[in-house]
Amino acid sequence: MTAETRSWAGRTAVITGGARGIGLAVARRLSEAGGAVVIVDVDPDVVAKATADVPALVGITGDVRDPERMAGIAEEVRGRFGGVDLLHANAGVTPREPGERLWEIPDESWQWVFGVNLFGVINTLRAFVPLVLERASSQVLVTASYAAYFAAPISPEYFTSKPAVASLAEALDAQFRREGLDVGVTTLVPSLVTTDLGRWREDRWSPETLLGSLPNPRMSPEGVADQVIEALDRRQRYVFTHPESFELARSRFAALEEAVAEDLARFGSSESRGAS
Ligand SMILES: NC(=O)c1ccc[n+]([C@@H]2O[C@H](COP(=O)([O-])OP(=O)(O)OC[C@H]3O[C@@H](n4cnc5c(N)ncnc54)[C@H](O)[C@@H]3O)[C@@H](O)[C@H]2O)c1
Repeated sequence: MTAETRSWAGRTAVITGGARGIGLAVARRLSEAGGAVVIVDVDPDVVAKATADVPALVGITGDVRDPERMAGIAEEVRGRFGGVDLLHANAGVTPREPGERLWEIPDESWQWVFGVNLFGVINTLRAFVPLVLERASSQVLVTASYAAYFAAPISPEYFTSKPAVASLAEALDAQFRREGLDVGVTTLVPSLVTTDLGRWREDRWSPETLLGSLPNPRMSPEGVADQVIEALDRRQRYVFTHPESFELARSRFAALEEAVAEDLARFGSSESRGAS
């Protein structure tokens, strides 16, 4: 995989959760390619560190769960850059107690994970899509996860928020298409990446808990960023960082197909059940 060669000069990107991990790696690549890159992150210390390491980045502290703050940041970006060529809705969190039983998880954990992972993306889109529409051939990149496509016995807050994020990206794409708007939507689907987010898996849960016997080498955030830059260039709809992990999604669809085939064989089509 090669790094970006196409110039981003004169173009502006906004990346939520951009002060660390995958977001920061994408920010670096875009900045190296000449783009003006704004990182928005909830943690002021990591924002300060990221902008000290990469002085070309514009760092803004903000919580994606706060719609008013996100609208304020969007106004700031509009005042400074006019529009946004790439919006990367990327901020995400995993629950602090991944092993908890679904029915015993406290409300606070559901609210926090859905607040960041789902409502954070919604707030980001509401604040920034108007700026994306100011630019020609602009793009929206949404970080989902393989967790969008299979169920696991751990972290139900995460494994139920990410399917919603992936569906949100597809719904956005469908709406842009319906309205004939020239905005590309790309869904980023990472598997295990060596960031702070994944650290709990190393501490308390082996990747095997999650992935069974699938080969699943961990990837660096830079490796993900290289794939992202190339995918943006090609206006791809999906980036599957670990293609072998798609087996997990296949097994879900195979189970559904089997269940439908069985049901159809026993009870017939919807017409034979009274539909007209
Ligand atoms: N690391 C993995 O293995 C992996 C796998 C699949 C998907 N992802 C997804 O990739 C995205 C980035 O994760 P990462 O691995 O780089 O993790 P990370 O923890 O290194 O980075 C996430 C960043 O988001 C910021 N953030 C958290 N809550 C926020 C909030 N409320 N408002 C603004 N910023 C906030 C954090 O401060 C952090 O800097 C997430 O959406 C995550 O779900 C990661």
